[in-house]
Amino acid sequence: MDLLADFREFQALQRHREALKDFHLRQALGDRDRHRAMTIRIGEALFDFSKHLATPETLSLLIRLAHARDVAGWRDQMFSGAAINTSENRAVLHTALRAEPSADIRVGGVNVMPGIADNLRRMATFCDQVRRRKTSGATGRAITDVLNIGIGGSDLGPRFISEALRDVHDGPVLHFVSNVDGHAISRALAGLDPETTLVIVASKTFTTEETMLNAAVARRWLVAGLGERADLGLHLVALSSAPDKAAAFGVKPERIFGFADWVGGRYSVWSAIGLSVMLAIGPERFASLLAGARDMDHHFRTQSFEKNIPVMMGLLGVWYRNLWDMPAHVLLPYDDRLARLAKYVQQMDMESNGKAVGRDGRFVGCGTGPVIFGEPGTDSQHSFMQLVHQGQVIPADFIAVIAPDHDLADNHRSLLANCFAQSRALAIGQTLEEAGGDTGRIFSGNRPSTTILLPQLDPYHLGLLLAAYEHKVFVQGIIWGLNSFDQPGVELGKKLAKDIVAGMAQGTVAAQGDCSTAGLIAAALYSDGREV
Ligand code: F6P
Repeated sequence: MDLLADFREFQALQRHREALKDFHLRQALGDRDRHRAMTIRIGEALFDFSKHLATPETLSLLIRLAHARDVAGWRDQMFSGAAINTSENRAVLHTALRAEPSADIRVGGVNVMPGIADNLRRMATFCDQVRRRKTSGATGRAITDVLNIGIGGSDLGPRFISEALRDVHDGPVLHFVSNVDGHAISRALAGLDPETTLVIVASKTFTTEETMLNAAVARRWLVAGLGERADLGLHLVALSSAPDKAAAFGVKPERIFGFADWVGGRYSVWSAIGLSVMLAIGPERFASLLAGARDMDHHFRTQSFEKNIPVMMGLLGVWYRNLWDMPAHVLLPYDDRLARLAKYVQQMDMESNGKAVGRDGRFVGCGTGPVIFGEPGTDSQHSFMQLVHQGQVIPADFIAVIAPDHDLADNHRSLLANCFAQSRALAIGQTLEEAGGDTGRIFSGNRPSTTILLPQLDPYHLGLLLAAYEHKVFVQGIIWGLNSFDQPGVELGKKLAKDIVAGMAQGTVAAQGDCSTAGLIAAALYSDGREV
């Protein structure tokens, strides 16, 4: 595969970048038409791209690059079920999970839609039973609490979405444990009653060490609380692509909710992995989450690149990463309910595109996925925003919600005003003169951002937003020549941890040729300070 730098479309962008040396958002934003021209709406949501270091020519050159990399072709292959996850020879079809049930999407010649509809029906029936307290635990008491044990994509999506929609929870109380650190599961179990708790083991592979260890702790806790002879199966649910392993763990077949191997972990919240969310908000609201994502899928598939939100998000990210050498991207939701957004997008983006080797097995030779981080505003303003205003140039996404679900008008006005003031300050900056001659208060400005305004934070708009990020990551992966759907980076550490844990269990130090690791293991094993 040709390197990005070899594409003449990329070289045109390099020349254009040079020509933009004197571009400044302070002047650009003085053009009254710019906001309207560079804002893309989908329903009542808007994505304002006018605070970017871009002219119409920039956008058209970026779009040319997208065509040269055949973004549309790859997109269509993804939606049609082609095996674009080449290293694992799998289709990538999280979009099918939210497609119209009448769609015909085939993998190996078989339409996957009836199976998806069937799974959703089973999930809804089970959730209705739990939510209406028609199902009970081993001692006959109703289920009041649900503990989701999972990690990575089996935790981040459901945890983020359920936290964002907490105000509309009307089902059992949700709890999440992901870390293998025993403090996490101990703390979670300490507040729960085994008689009224449902433990969900969420793991696509049902082999992930952290999840299996925590699931075993939870099962022992159930046995201790309910007795050896209790029907533990009434307290267990599994969400997995490996039903045989879930059954071997003691989950009743009717409580195993599956999904296919073409659903990547970090794209799995739309599948059975979303069961905890459905338990908390109910099947109807869950359907609305899927509908929001479906509408963004439709937009991504049908809009011209000029008016295509994920394409614009992706291309502008490439512009900064590869032409301006900016290595990070910050997410700033001005809505406390989206506090975990950055954590969620972090896995989606960094596990997908944090790679150096392309689909053809060769080094791609260009910058790939940026460091994603973020915190809600206004807290972020009192933390790391100093660096974003003056220290480094980091493209930002501001996300705000117009209508809050509270009636504290002063708070909300202040929140939105801060959001708009931050992106304005980043773009416009402050001159020496405006700073009253105080050089410490000069802000060079010209710092790019997108502002996303959602009419309200309901399941539909949450689905819409998350699908936009998914497709942004997709677009970037195609431009960089990556397979965004595997994750070799986690394997090496996993393998080494296995050797070390086995050694530590026997009191031996498994870190040959590495004095630091050997010393650390010895310090953890032996309290007498002995050298190894
Ligand atoms: O971090 C690697 C990873 O494979 C993620 O992609 C995935 O979301 C997570 O582990 C959990 O995997 P599983 O659902 O199989 O337990």
